[in-house]
Amino acid sequence: MSDTDTHVDTALPAPSCVMVIFGAAGDLTKRKLFPALYYLSVANRLPERFAVLGVSREALSSEQYRELMNTESRVHLDGDYSAEVWDRLVQCCHYLQGDFRDPEAYEALAKKLSELDDQCQTGGNYLFYMATPPAFFGDIAEQIVNAGLAHEDEGHWRRLVIEKPFGHDLQSARALNRKLLDMFNERQLYRIDHYLGKETVQNFLAFRFANGVIEPIWNRRYIDHVQITVAEPLGVENRASYYEGAGALRDMIPNHLLAVLAMIAMEPPISFDADEIRDEQARVLRAIQPLTPEDVLTHTVRGQYTSGVMADGMQVPAYRQEAGVAADSQTETFVAMSLMIDSWRWAGVPFYLRTGKRMPGRFTEIVVQYKHAPNTAFKHSIMKNKHVEPNVMVLRIQPSEGISLGINAKVPGQVMQLSPVEMNFSYDDYFGDEPSTGYETLIYDCMKGDPTLFKRADIIETAWQLVEPILDVWTALPPRDFPNYAAGQWGPSAADELLQRDGRAWRICTDA
Ligand code: BG6
Repeated sequence: MSDTDTHVDTALPAPSCVMVIFGAAGDLTKRKLFPALYYLSVANRLPERFAVLGVSREALSSEQYRELMNTESRVHLDGDYSAEVWDRLVQCCHYLQGDFRDPEAYEALAKKLSELDDQCQTGGNYLFYMATPPAFFGDIAEQIVNAGLAHEDEGHWRRLVIEKPFGHDLQSARALNRKLLDMFNERQLYRIDHYLGKETVQNFLAFRFANGVIEPIWNRRYIDHVQITVAEPLGVENRASYYEGAGALRDMIPNHLLAVLAMIAMEPPISFDADEIRDEQARVLRAIQPLTPEDVLTHTVRGQYTSGVMADGMQVPAYRQEAGVAADSQTETFVAMSLMIDSWRWAGVPFYLRTGKRMPGRFTEIVVQYKHAPNTAFKHSIMKNKHVEPNVMVLRIQPSEGISLGINAKVPGQVMQLSPVEMNFSYDDYFGDEPSTGYETLIYDCMKGDPTLFKRADIIETAWQLVEPILDVWTALPPRDFPNYAAGQWGPSAADELLQRDGRAWRICTDA
Protein backbone atom coordinates (compact mmCIF):
# COMPACT_ATOMS: atom_id res chain seq x y z
CA MET A 1 0.00 0.00 0.00
CA SER A 2 1.39 3.43 -0.88
CA ASP A 3 1.43 6.31 1.60
CA THR A 4 -1.51 7.94 -0.10
CA ASP A 5 -3.55 4.73 0.01
CA THR A 6 -3.67 5.05 3.78
CA HIS A 7 -5.38 8.40 3.52
CA VAL A 8 -9.03 8.16 2.52
CA ASP A 9 -10.54 11.59 2.13
CA THR A 10 -14.24 11.84 1.48
CA ALA A 11 -14.96 15.49 2.17
CA LEU A 12 -16.80 17.47 -0.49
CA PRO A 13 -16.49 21.08 -1.61
CA ALA A 14 -18.12 23.48 0.84
CA PRO A 15 -21.52 24.99 0.00
CA SER A 16 -21.73 28.12 -2.16
CA CYS A 17 -21.01 31.39 -0.38
CA VAL A 18 -19.34 34.78 -0.37
CA MET A 19 -16.55 35.19 2.14
CA VAL A 20 -16.43 38.81 3.24
CA ILE A 21 -13.07 39.70 4.79
CA PHE A 22 -12.97 42.83 6.93
CA GLY A 23 -9.33 43.84 7.15
CA ALA A 24 -8.77 42.64 3.60
CA ALA A 25 -5.39 44.30 3.14
CA GLY A 26 -4.03 43.30 6.55
CA ASP A 27 -1.35 40.89 7.64
CA LEU A 28 -3.61 38.04 8.64
CA THR A 29 -5.38 38.08 5.28
CA LYS A 30 -2.14 38.06 3.32
CA ARG A 31 -0.20 35.59 5.44
CA LYS A 32 -2.87 33.13 6.48
CA LEU A 33 -6.33 33.55 4.97
CA PHE A 34 -5.41 33.70 1.28
CA PRO A 35 -2.86 30.89 1.53
CA ALA A 36 -5.48 28.83 3.40
CA LEU A 37 -8.03 29.49 0.64
CA TYR A 38 -5.43 28.45 -1.91
CA TYR A 39 -4.71 25.15 -0.09
CA LEU A 40 -8.44 24.53 0.20
CA SER A 41 -8.77 25.10 -3.50
CA VAL A 42 -5.89 22.68 -4.22
CA ALA A 43 -7.75 20.11 -2.10
CA ASN A 44 -10.95 20.85 -4.00
CA ARG A 45 -12.74 22.01 -0.86
CA LEU A 46 -13.69 25.55 -1.86
CA PRO A 47 -17.30 26.00 -2.94
CA GLU A 48 -17.90 25.54 -6.63
CA ARG A 49 -19.72 28.87 -6.58
CA PHE A 50 -17.60 31.17 -4.50
CA ALA A 51 -16.45 34.77 -4.16
CA VAL A 52 -14.22 36.67 -1.78
CA LEU A 53 -15.15 40.24 -1.03
CA GLY A 54 -12.37 42.18 0.67
CA VAL A 55 -13.38 45.23 2.69
CA SER A 56 -10.98 47.79 4.14
CA ARG A 57 -10.17 51.49 4.25
CA GLU A 58 -7.53 51.50 1.51
CA ALA A 59 -8.63 53.00 -1.78
CA LEU A 60 -8.25 50.08 -4.18
CA SER A 61 -10.15 48.75 -7.15
CA SER A 62 -10.89 45.03 -7.36
CA GLU A 63 -8.15 44.79 -9.96
CA GLN A 64 -5.65 46.48 -7.66
CA TYR A 65 -6.70 44.25 -4.79
CA ARG A 66 -6.03 41.13 -6.89
CA GLU A 67 -2.64 42.57 -7.75
CA LEU A 68 -1.93 43.19 -4.06
CA MET A 69 -2.68 39.55 -3.25
CA ASN A 70 -0.51 38.47 -6.18
CA THR A 71 2.44 40.42 -4.87
CA GLU A 72 2.00 40.21 -1.10
CA SER A 73 0.12 37.00 -0.36
CA ARG A 74 1.43 34.53 -2.93
CA VAL A 75 4.91 34.75 -1.35
CA HIS A 76 3.49 33.00 1.74
CA LEU A 77 2.60 29.80 -0.13
CA ASP A 78 4.60 26.66 0.54
CA GLY A 79 4.85 23.42 -1.39
CA ASP A 80 4.17 22.87 -5.08
CA TYR A 81 2.68 25.93 -6.68
CA SER A 82 -0.14 25.77 -9.20
CA ALA A 83 -0.54 29.02 -11.10
CA GLU A 84 -3.89 27.78 -12.39
CA VAL A 85 -5.34 27.28 -8.88
CA TRP A 86 -3.93 30.57 -7.60
CA ASP A 87 -5.24 32.54 -10.58
CA ARG A 88 -8.66 30.97 -10.25
CA LEU A 89 -8.75 32.01 -6.59
CA VAL A 90 -7.59 35.54 -7.29
CA GLN A 91 -10.19 35.89 -10.04
CA CYS A 92 -12.90 35.21 -7.42
CA CYS A 93 -11.77 38.27 -5.46
CA HIS A 94 -13.59 41.55 -5.32
CA TYR A 95 -12.96 44.63 -3.27
CA LEU A 96 -14.97 47.30 -1.51
CA GLN A 97 -13.48 50.34 0.12
CA GLY A 98 -15.17 51.30 3.35
CA ASP A 99 -14.83 52.56 6.88
CA PHE A 100 -15.82 49.77 9.29
CA ARG A 101 -17.88 52.18 11.41
CA ASP A 102 -19.67 53.96 8.58
CA PRO A 103 -23.27 52.80 7.93
CA GLU A 104 -22.98 53.84 4.28
CA ALA A 105 -20.20 51.31 3.80
CA TYR A 106 -22.66 48.59 4.79
CA GLU A 107 -25.31 49.84 2.38
CA ALA A 108 -22.66 49.53 -0.32
CA LEU A 109 -21.75 46.10 1.07
CA ALA A 110 -25.35 44.87 0.88
CA LYS A 111 -25.60 46.08 -2.72
CA LYS A 112 -22.29 44.46 -3.67
CA LEU A 113 -23.28 41.17 -2.05
CA SER A 114 -26.50 41.02 -3.94
CA GLU A 115 -24.61 41.71 -7.20
CA LEU A 116 -22.17 38.92 -6.37
CA ASP A 117 -25.03 36.56 -5.63
CA ASP A 118 -26.35 37.23 -9.14
CA GLN A 119 -22.98 37.13 -10.80
CA CYS A 120 -21.48 34.12 -8.99
CA GLN A 121 -24.65 32.32 -7.86
CA THR A 122 -23.47 32.23 -4.29
CA GLY A 123 -26.98 31.66 -2.99
CA GLY A 124 -27.16 34.46 -0.43
CA ASN A 125 -24.81 32.67 2.01
CA TYR A 126 -22.31 35.00 3.66
CA LEU A 127 -19.32 34.28 5.82
CA PHE A 128 -18.21 37.50 7.50
CA TYR A 129 -14.61 37.21 8.65
CA MET A 130 -13.33 39.85 11.06
CA ALA A 131 -9.61 39.99 10.37
CA THR A 132 -9.41 43.43 12.00
CA PRO A 133 -8.09 44.84 15.25
CA PRO A 134 -10.43 43.74 18.06
CA ALA A 135 -11.67 47.29 18.68
CA PHE A 136 -13.83 46.88 15.55
CA PHE A 137 -15.45 43.51 16.33
CA GLY A 138 -18.54 44.82 18.13
CA ASP A 139 -19.10 47.69 15.68
CA ILE A 140 -18.76 45.56 12.57
CA ALA A 141 -21.20 43.02 13.98
CA GLU A 142 -23.69 45.77 14.77
CA GLN A 143 -23.42 47.34 11.34
CA ILE A 144 -23.91 43.95 9.65
CA VAL A 145 -27.11 43.51 11.64
CA ASN A 146 -28.31 47.06 10.99
CA ALA A 147 -27.81 46.57 7.26
CA GLY A 148 -30.05 43.47 7.46
CA LEU A 149 -27.18 41.20 6.48
CA ALA A 150 -27.30 38.90 9.52
CA HIS A 151 -30.84 37.79 8.93
CA GLU A 152 -31.21 34.19 7.80
CA ASP A 153 -34.24 33.34 5.71
CA GLU A 154 -35.18 31.24 2.69
CA GLY A 155 -32.45 28.77 3.60
CA HIS A 156 -29.61 31.32 3.51
CA TRP A 157 -26.98 31.25 6.19
CA ARG A 158 -25.08 34.16 7.66
CA ARG A 159 -22.04 33.47 9.87
CA LEU A 160 -19.55 35.60 11.68
CA VAL A 161 -15.94 34.60 12.34
CA ILE A 162 -14.37 36.46 15.25
CA GLU A 163 -10.59 36.42 15.48
CA LYS A 164 -8.66 36.56 18.70
CA PRO A 165 -8.13 38.35 21.00
CA PHE A 166 -11.70 37.83 22.16
CA GLY A 167 -11.74 40.50 24.87
CA HIS A 168 -8.93 41.91 26.92
CA ASP A 169 -10.04 40.43 30.24
CA LEU A 170 -13.07 38.69 31.70
CA GLN A 171 -15.23 41.78 31.77
CA SER A 172 -14.58 42.81 28.16
CA ALA A 173 -14.98 39.22 26.93
CA ARG A 174 -18.35 39.01 28.69
CA ALA A 175 -19.41 42.36 27.27
CA LEU A 176 -18.47 41.28 23.73
CA ASN A 177 -20.27 37.95 24.12
CA ARG A 178 -23.37 39.75 25.39
CA LYS A 179 -23.30 42.21 22.54
CA LEU A 180 -22.89 39.50 19.90
CA LEU A 181 -25.51 37.23 21.44
CA ASP A 182 -28.02 40.10 21.51
CA MET A 183 -27.74 40.27 17.74
CA PHE A 184 -26.79 36.76 16.55
CA ASN A 185 -27.62 33.19 17.51
CA GLU A 186 -24.75 31.27 19.08
CA ARG A 187 -24.81 28.93 16.07
CA GLN A 188 -23.97 31.88 13.78
CA LEU A 189 -20.86 32.80 15.80
CA TYR A 190 -17.48 31.22 15.10
CA ARG A 191 -14.86 32.35 17.65
CA ILE A 192 -11.69 31.15 16.07
CA ASP A 193 -8.53 29.79 17.72
CA HIS A 194 -6.16 28.67 14.99
CA TYR A 195 -4.49 26.18 17.36
CA LEU A 196 -7.62 24.07 17.10
CA GLY A 197 -7.11 23.98 13.33
CA LYS A 198 -3.69 22.43 13.64
CA GLU A 199 -3.70 18.86 12.44
CA THR A 200 -1.92 17.40 15.48
CA VAL A 201 -4.23 19.16 17.91
CA GLN A 202 -7.19 17.56 16.17
CA ASN A 203 -5.31 14.29 16.21
CA PHE A 204 -5.40 14.35 20.03
CA LEU A 205 -9.01 13.23 19.77
CA ALA A 206 -8.11 10.27 17.56
CA PHE A 207 -5.02 9.46 19.59
CA ARG A 208 -6.83 9.43 22.91
CA PHE A 209 -10.20 8.03 21.98
CA ALA A 210 -9.50 5.67 19.07
CA ASN A 211 -6.72 3.73 20.78
CA GLY A 212 -7.72 1.30 23.47
CA VAL A 213 -4.21 1.29 24.87
CA ILE A 214 -3.98 5.01 25.66
CA GLU A 215 -7.07 6.00 27.62
CA PRO A 216 -6.70 3.48 30.48
CA ILE A 217 -3.30 4.98 31.38
CA TRP A 218 -4.32 8.60 30.83
CA ASN A 219 -4.92 9.59 34.42
CA ARG A 220 -3.39 10.33 37.83
CA ARG A 221 -2.64 6.68 38.59
CA TYR A 222 -0.01 6.55 35.85
CA ILE A 223 0.82 10.13 34.90
CA ASP A 224 3.20 12.16 37.05
CA HIS A 225 2.72 15.51 35.34
CA VAL A 226 2.08 17.22 31.99
CA GLN A 227 4.07 20.02 30.34
CA ILE A 228 2.73 22.25 27.57
CA THR A 229 5.33 24.37 25.79
CA VAL A 230 4.70 26.88 23.01
CA ALA A 231 8.05 28.47 22.24
CA GLU A 232 8.76 30.90 19.41
CA PRO A 233 12.10 32.27 18.22
CA LEU A 234 10.32 35.35 16.83
CA GLY A 235 10.30 38.64 18.70
CA VAL A 236 7.43 41.08 18.69
CA GLU A 237 7.96 41.83 14.95
CA ASN A 238 5.81 44.72 13.78
CA ARG A 239 3.02 44.07 16.29
CA ALA A 240 4.13 46.25 19.19
CA SER A 241 0.96 48.36 19.12
CA TYR A 242 -1.05 45.24 19.94
CA TYR A 243 1.50 43.29 21.96
CA GLU A 244 2.46 46.08 24.35
CA GLY A 245 -1.11 46.12 25.67
CA ALA A 246 -1.52 42.35 25.57
CA GLY A 247 1.68 40.56 26.64
CA ALA A 248 2.36 36.84 26.51
CA LEU A 249 -0.29 35.96 29.09
CA ARG A 250 -3.26 37.47 27.25
CA ASP A 251 -1.83 36.65 23.81
CA MET A 252 -1.39 32.91 24.36
CA ILE A 253 -2.80 31.46 27.58
CA PRO A 254 -6.59 31.95 27.60
CA ASN A 255 -6.75 30.84 23.98
CA HIS A 256 -4.05 28.58 22.51
CA LEU A 257 -2.55 26.95 25.60
CA LEU A 258 -5.82 26.35 27.39
CA ALA A 259 -7.32 25.02 24.14
CA VAL A 260 -4.50 22.47 23.97
CA LEU A 261 -4.86 21.67 27.67
CA ALA A 262 -8.58 21.08 27.24
CA MET A 263 -7.93 18.62 24.38
CA ILE A 264 -5.39 16.72 26.48
CA ALA A 265 -7.37 16.68 29.70
CA MET A 266 -11.04 16.46 28.68
CA GLU A 267 -13.15 13.40 29.40
CA PRO A 268 -14.20 11.23 26.44
CA PRO A 269 -17.25 12.82 24.76
CA ILE A 270 -20.19 10.51 24.14
CA SER A 271 -20.05 11.48 20.45
CA PHE A 272 -18.14 13.84 18.18
CA ASP A 273 -21.11 16.14 18.05
CA ALA A 274 -19.91 19.77 18.36
CA ASP A 275 -21.60 20.42 21.67
CA GLU A 276 -20.63 17.10 23.22
CA ILE A 277 -16.98 17.91 22.62
CA ARG A 278 -17.30 21.51 23.71
CA ASP A 279 -19.22 20.50 26.84
CA GLU A 280 -16.30 18.30 27.87
CA GLN A 281 -13.79 21.03 27.12
CA ALA A 282 -15.78 23.54 29.14
CA ARG A 283 -16.08 21.06 32.01
CA VAL A 284 -12.36 20.43 32.29
CA LEU A 285 -11.56 24.14 32.16
CA ARG A 286 -14.08 24.72 34.94
CA ALA A 287 -12.31 22.04 36.99
CA ILE A 288 -8.98 23.91 36.98
CA GLN A 289 -8.28 25.18 40.49
CA PRO A 290 -8.67 28.96 40.56
CA LEU A 291 -5.45 30.71 41.59
CA THR A 292 -5.50 32.75 44.79
CA PRO A 293 -3.30 35.87 44.92
CA GLU A 294 -0.73 33.80 46.89
CA ASP A 295 -0.83 31.09 44.21
CA VAL A 296 -0.14 33.72 41.58
CA LEU A 297 3.04 34.67 43.42
CA THR A 298 4.23 31.10 43.78
CA HIS A 299 2.79 29.34 40.72
CA THR A 300 3.30 31.85 37.91
CA VAL A 301 6.42 33.37 36.36
CA ARG A 302 6.71 36.28 33.95
CA GLY A 303 9.66 37.34 31.88
CA GLN A 304 10.80 39.85 29.31
CA TYR A 305 13.71 39.32 26.94
CA THR A 306 16.75 41.45 26.68
CA SER A 307 19.15 41.39 23.73
CA GLY A 308 20.84 38.10 22.97
CA VAL A 309 22.05 35.65 20.39
CA MET A 310 19.62 33.25 18.76
CA ALA A 311 20.35 29.63 17.84
CA ASP A 312 21.29 30.66 14.27
CA GLY A 313 23.91 33.09 15.63
CA MET A 314 21.81 36.19 14.96
CA GLN A 315 22.21 38.98 17.50
CA VAL A 316 18.77 40.43 18.29
CA PRO A 317 17.73 43.51 20.25
CA ALA A 318 15.95 43.62 23.61
CA TYR A 319 12.15 43.83 23.67
CA ARG A 320 12.43 47.37 25.01
CA GLN A 321 14.47 48.34 21.94
CA GLU A 322 11.93 47.04 19.42
CA ALA A 323 10.03 49.59 17.34
CA GLY A 324 6.90 50.81 19.12
CA VAL A 325 7.87 49.39 22.52
CA ALA A 326 8.25 51.72 25.52
CA ALA A 327 11.81 52.03 26.83
CA ASP A 328 10.57 51.02 30.29
CA SER A 329 7.93 48.54 29.10
CA GLN A 330 6.58 46.17 31.76
CA THR A 331 4.98 43.88 29.19
CA GLU A 332 5.86 40.22 29.61
CA THR A 333 7.14 38.26 26.63
CA PHE A 334 7.30 34.99 28.55
CA VAL A 335 4.99 33.27 30.98
CA ALA A 336 5.09 29.98 32.86
CA MET A 337 2.68 28.57 35.39
CA SER A 338 1.48 25.42 37.04
CA LEU A 339 -2.18 24.52 37.24
CA MET A 340 -4.03 21.74 39.03
CA ILE A 341 -7.25 20.17 37.79
CA ASP A 342 -9.76 19.17 40.45
CA SER A 343 -11.18 16.10 38.81
CA TRP A 344 -11.20 12.38 39.53
CA ARG A 345 -8.87 11.80 36.58
CA TRP A 346 -6.34 14.55 37.27
CA ALA A 347 -6.29 15.26 41.01
CA GLY A 348 -2.68 15.78 42.11
CA VAL A 349 -1.21 15.91 38.57
CA PRO A 350 0.37 19.31 37.85
CA PHE A 351 0.01 20.82 34.39
CA TYR A 352 2.98 23.10 33.68
CA LEU A 353 2.48 25.67 30.92
CA ARG A 354 5.08 27.94 29.35
CA THR A 355 5.18 30.17 26.31
CA GLY A 356 7.51 32.91 25.18
CA LYS A 357 9.00 34.98 22.42
CA ARG A 358 12.70 34.82 21.47
CA MET A 359 13.04 31.28 22.73
CA PRO A 360 15.80 29.03 21.36
CA GLY A 361 13.53 27.57 18.68
CA ARG A 362 10.01 26.97 17.45
CA PHE A 363 8.68 24.19 19.61
CA THR A 364 5.09 23.45 20.44
CA GLU A 365 4.73 20.22 22.33
CA ILE A 366 2.96 18.41 25.09
CA VAL A 367 5.02 16.22 27.37
CA VAL A 368 3.19 13.57 29.35
CA GLN A 369 5.54 12.16 31.93
CA TYR A 370 4.59 8.85 33.47
CA LYS A 371 5.40 7.81 37.02
CA HIS A 372 8.65 5.99 37.72
CA ALA A 373 8.59 2.23 37.48
CA PRO A 374 9.86 0.66 40.72
CA ASN A 375 13.61 0.18 40.75
CA THR A 376 13.59 -3.14 42.58
CA ALA A 377 14.69 -5.48 39.83
CA PHE A 378 17.31 -3.07 38.49
CA LYS A 379 19.02 -2.10 41.75
CA HIS A 380 22.37 -3.42 40.56
CA SER A 381 22.07 -2.38 36.93
CA ILE A 382 23.86 0.51 35.28
CA MET A 383 21.54 3.44 34.90
CA LYS A 384 21.95 7.09 34.03
CA ASN A 385 20.43 8.71 37.11
CA LYS A 386 20.46 5.78 39.52
CA HIS A 387 16.79 5.18 38.83
CA VAL A 388 14.76 3.83 35.95
CA GLU A 389 13.94 6.76 33.68
CA PRO A 390 10.21 7.48 33.60
CA ASN A 391 8.38 6.89 30.33
CA VAL A 392 7.67 10.12 28.53
CA MET A 393 5.11 10.60 25.80
CA VAL A 394 5.71 13.66 23.65
CA LEU A 395 2.99 15.00 21.38
CA ARG A 396 4.69 17.36 18.96
CA ILE A 397 2.65 20.04 17.23
CA GLN A 398 5.50 22.12 15.79
CA PRO A 399 7.85 22.07 13.98
CA SER A 400 7.61 18.37 13.01
CA GLU A 401 4.25 16.89 13.91
CA GLY A 402 4.33 13.53 15.59
CA ILE A 403 4.26 11.47 18.73
CA SER A 404 7.12 9.78 20.51
CA LEU A 405 7.33 7.50 23.49
CA GLY A 406 10.46 7.26 25.58
CA ILE A 407 11.01 3.77 26.95
CA ASN A 408 13.88 1.98 28.68
CA ALA A 409 15.80 -0.70 26.83
CA LYS A 410 18.70 -2.95 27.64
CA VAL A 411 21.95 -1.93 26.02
CA PRO A 412 23.23 -5.00 24.12
CA GLY A 413 26.07 -6.70 25.96
CA GLN A 414 26.93 -8.94 28.86
CA VAL A 415 25.81 -6.64 31.68
CA MET A 416 22.33 -5.35 32.45
CA GLN A 417 22.63 -1.76 31.41
CA LEU A 418 19.54 0.36 30.77
CA SER A 419 19.24 3.22 28.34
CA PRO A 420 16.23 5.35 27.41
CA VAL A 421 15.28 4.98 23.72
CA GLU A 422 12.50 6.51 21.64
CA MET A 423 9.66 5.07 19.61
CA ASN A 424 8.81 7.74 17.13
CA PHE A 425 5.81 8.39 14.90
CA SER A 426 6.18 11.24 12.48
CA TYR A 427 3.22 12.57 10.53
CA ASP A 428 5.32 13.14 7.41
CA ASP A 429 6.34 9.50 7.18
CA TYR A 430 2.76 8.32 6.96
CA PHE A 431 0.77 11.13 5.46
CA GLY A 432 3.32 13.29 3.64
CA ASP A 433 4.05 16.88 4.42
CA GLU A 434 1.04 18.86 3.21
CA PRO A 435 1.58 22.62 3.52
CA SER A 436 -1.00 24.24 5.76
CA THR A 437 -1.60 27.43 7.72
CA GLY A 438 -3.87 25.87 10.35
CA TYR A 439 -6.79 27.90 8.97
CA GLU A 440 -7.92 25.50 6.22
CA THR A 441 -10.05 23.18 8.34
CA LEU A 442 -11.47 26.10 10.30
CA ILE A 443 -12.57 28.05 7.22
CA TYR A 444 -13.94 24.90 5.62
CA ASP A 445 -15.83 23.91 8.79
CA CYS A 446 -17.29 27.36 9.07
CA MET A 447 -18.54 27.22 5.48
CA LYS A 448 -20.09 23.83 6.24
CA GLY A 449 -21.58 25.06 9.50
CA ASP A 450 -19.61 22.79 11.82
CA PRO A 451 -18.70 24.68 15.01
CA THR A 452 -16.83 21.81 16.75
CA LEU A 453 -13.43 23.48 16.52
CA PHE A 454 -14.67 26.93 17.52
CA LYS A 455 -14.99 28.39 21.00
CA ARG A 456 -18.36 28.71 22.64
CA ALA A 457 -19.10 31.80 24.77
CA ASP A 458 -18.81 29.84 28.04
CA ILE A 459 -15.39 28.39 27.09
CA ILE A 460 -14.03 31.85 26.35
CA GLU A 461 -15.31 33.22 29.64
CA THR A 462 -14.06 30.29 31.73
CA ALA A 463 -10.59 30.74 30.25
CA TRP A 464 -10.57 34.46 31.10
CA GLN A 465 -11.82 33.66 34.58
CA LEU A 466 -8.70 31.56 35.14
CA VAL A 467 -6.39 34.26 33.89
CA GLU A 468 -8.08 37.14 35.70
CA PRO A 469 -6.40 36.65 39.14
CA ILE A 470 -3.00 36.61 37.42
CA LEU A 471 -3.78 39.86 35.61
CA ASP A 472 -4.91 41.43 38.89
CA VAL A 473 -1.81 40.49 40.86
CA TRP A 474 0.59 41.32 38.05
CA THR A 475 -1.01 44.73 37.57
CA ALA A 476 -0.90 45.46 41.29
CA LEU A 477 2.74 44.36 41.56
CA PRO A 478 4.68 45.48 38.51
CA PRO A 479 7.75 43.36 37.76
CA ARG A 480 10.96 44.61 39.37
CA ASP A 481 13.44 42.46 37.46
CA PHE A 482 12.54 43.10 33.79
CA PRO A 483 14.26 42.32 31.47
CA ASN A 484 15.08 38.99 33.06
CA TYR A 485 16.08 36.61 30.26
CA ALA A 486 18.35 36.89 27.27
CA ALA A 487 16.90 36.37 23.80
CA GLY A 488 17.73 32.82 22.73
CA GLN A 489 17.26 31.42 26.26
CA TRP A 490 14.42 29.44 27.82
CA GLY A 491 12.98 32.32 29.86
CA PRO A 492 13.97 33.45 33.36
CA SER A 493 15.52 31.06 35.87
CA ALA A 494 12.34 31.29 37.95
CA ALA A 495 10.64 29.18 35.26
CA ASP A 496 13.09 26.35 35.94
CA GLU A 497 12.70 26.80 39.68
CA LEU A 498 8.94 26.43 39.32
CA LEU A 499 9.49 22.78 38.38
CA GLN A 500 12.64 22.20 40.44
CA ARG A 501 10.65 22.95 43.59
CA ASP A 502 8.49 19.94 42.72
CA GLY A 503 11.53 17.79 41.90
CA ARG A 504 10.91 18.08 38.16
CA ALA A 505 12.43 19.74 35.10
CA TRP A 506 11.29 21.02 31.73
CA ARG A 507 12.01 18.59 28.95
CA ILE A 508 14.69 19.76 26.54
CA CYS A 509 12.82 20.33 23.28
CA THR A 510 14.16 18.75 20.10
CA ASP A 511 12.48 18.60 16.73
CA ALA A 512 12.12 14.83 16.55
C1 BG6 B 1 -0.98 34.23 17.67
C2 BG6 B 1 -0.28 35.16 18.61
O1 BG6 B 1 -2.30 34.03 18.07
O2 BG6 B 1 -0.31 32.97 17.67
C3 BG6 B 1 1.16 35.35 18.18
O3 BG6 B 1 -0.95 36.42 18.61
C4 BG6 B 1 1.85 34.02 18.05
O4 BG6 B 1 1.86 36.20 19.09
C5 BG6 B 1 1.03 33.05 17.21
O5 BG6 B 1 3.09 34.25 17.43
C6 BG6 B 1 1.60 31.65 17.27
O6 BG6 B 1 0.96 30.85 16.30
P1 BG6 B 1 1.75 29.69 15.56
O7 BG6 B 1 0.71 29.05 14.71
O8 BG6 B 1 2.83 30.35 14.75
O9 BG6 B 1 2.29 28.81 16.62
